[in-house]
Amino acid sequence: MSWAGIIDKYREFLPVSSKTPVVTLNEGNTPLVPSPVLSDRLGLEVYLKYEGLNPTGSFKDRGMTVAVSKAKESGASAIICASTGNTSASAAAYAARAGLRCVVLIPKGAVAQGKLSQALIHGARVIAIDGNFDQALMMVRRIAQTEAITLVNSVNPYRLEGQKTGAFEVCDQLGGKAPDFHAIPVGNAGNISAYWMGYGEYYEKKIVGSKPVMLGFQAEGAAPIVKKKIIKDPRTIATAIRIGNPASWKSAENARDSSGGVIDTVTDKEILEAYKLLADKEGIFVEPASAASVAGVLKLGRTGYFEKKLKSMKRATLVCVLTGHGLKDPDRAIASVKKPKTVAANLNAILKAVKL
Ligand code: F0G
Repeated sequence: MSWAGIIDKYREFLPVSSKTPVVTLNEGNTPLVPSPVLSDRLGLEVYLKYEGLNPTGSFKDRGMTVAVSKAKESGASAIICASTGNTSASAAAYAARAGLRCVVLIPKGAVAQGKLSQALIHGARVIAIDGNFDQALMMVRRIAQTEAITLVNSVNPYRLEGQKTGAFEVCDQLGGKAPDFHAIPVGNAGNISAYWMGYGEYYEKKIVGSKPVMLGFQAEGAAPIVKKKIIKDPRTIATAIRIGNPASWKSAENARDSSGGVIDTVTDKEILEAYKLLADKEGIFVEPASAASVAGVLKLGRTGYFEKKLKSMKRATLVCVLTGHGLKDPDRAIASVKKPKTVAANLNAILKAVKL
């Protein structure tokens, strides 16, 4: 078998031993798709790391295979997480496969249908709280302190260990070098921290020649890192990143500052424009939060950021991480387009409606 998941592939970089029972759905190995439209607009060589093609449709599976394998190794019988949706979908699937119980806390009414259906069908106990993600995270952290249940949010270090393999794959796919720029949406800030860790580890092992400039993007109404303050009531249509007090705040700032990068905001309008652009022009369907990385680099492009940075770099490469699949949030897709027309079941009416 050629691919058996990220633990099998990157074992030497991960905190596992021959005794660790590997719980995998063959996550990882996602395509790095060239983006002609963005390359043209930005004057860079742009690639899209399509993480929506992981087994449960988001990048969370990379961290979850490690967290759940380690939970099983330690003899746990149950796992718990707070989630804006994708973490809970992934936790529920890996728990089902491992034979563990799974409990998830979600903010009421703020989780996309696809994600909720995943957590439920995999048999998780789903509890919606009358509050937001930050409150849910606080609750599960408390519960995990006193109860016999393993926390699998990204405050569990095994999650970031798994997620850093995204950076290894990008370097491997670019023929053994890191991109010059790495763009990524920022919510709870685990993924930007994990990628920075991954690039650092490949750099130390001399597998890549340099590390990228990290570009993180938060939604305008949920941008605590950019605004340098906790946002009590975060708001954005990109529900995955509707977070006002990220757990990995400090490490995200470190990734930004050590790499000479930026963390900036994008408006919901910019997110939706990028969402449509990816679908219309590149044939790639992502959920709105994922489009934040593309919205962000388009914004930086408009302000002349790359031209200024690029004085010394020729043929620079940029990787945008597309964190989750568009099918996660079908309601948003339907709300963004014209409804299909119903016509009589006869050829004339159909041809008239098709307007060839
Ligand atoms: N994109 C998607 C699709 C996400 O689901 C998330 C986070 C992010 C980006 C941001 O990543 O939190 O590591 O900065 N989703 C979490 C969840 C919070 O519960 O599924 P981050």
